[in-house]
Amino acid sequence: MSKARVAILLSGGGSNMEALLASMQGDHPGRPCLVLSNDPKAGGLVKAAARGVPVAAVDHRAFAGDRLAFEAALMRPLIDAAPDIICLAGFMRVLSADFVSHWAGRMLNIHPSLLPKYRGLHTHARALAAGDKEHGCSVHEVTAELDGGPILGQARVPVLEGDTPDDLAARVLVMEHALYPAVLRRFADGDKRPVLLG
Ligand code: GRF
Repeated sequence: MSKARVAILLSGGGSNMEALLASMQGDHPGRPCLVLSNDPKAGGLVKAAARGVPVAAVDHRAFAGDRLAFEAALMRPLIDAAPDIICLAGFMRVLSADFVSHWAGRMLNIHPSLLPKYRGLHTHARALAAGDKEHGCSVHEVTAELDGGPILGQARVPVLEGDTPDDLAARVLVMEHALYPAVLRRFADGDKRPVLLG
């Protein structure tokens, strides 16, 4: 059985990317084929290259707000890498419906909230402001609706007295690194049953 080709898109340090790369060993059904960023200086690109994974960058700033031109450029290294699955892992650009539809059913994202709560940004501060007693992260299929696709996994963490948004983000990030690899493994095996942790 050939392995699924997995491309990872990121914008920053890539701790989720690192967790995904570390998981794709042995009998895991996936193998990385590309790590791609919208920022040529993204720390995750250096980490991926150090692990021997092909990397590429398309600087969104070079397209001065022309999202379609940026996405056309972003599509090229992806088409060349021919991924079976794309994992968005801290990829901070909103993708158009056209771009997403090209990869329909094959693109995943990790979001730092218990979706459908807190789509969008500043999720930890919003959970604290709401007085939530628990919080967490979700992996979902990417659709045209921002943070709105079918849930493939969730991990829960407690909200503790005195938590700051950074405290909560750190607690959630630990669970992200467990959840995303578990979801990718199951998804690459063709199993869409949700992974539930915590
Ligand atoms: C994570 O908190 C993830 O939930 C969000 O962006 C962050 C990415 O962190 N989408 P990293 O680049 O994977 O370390």
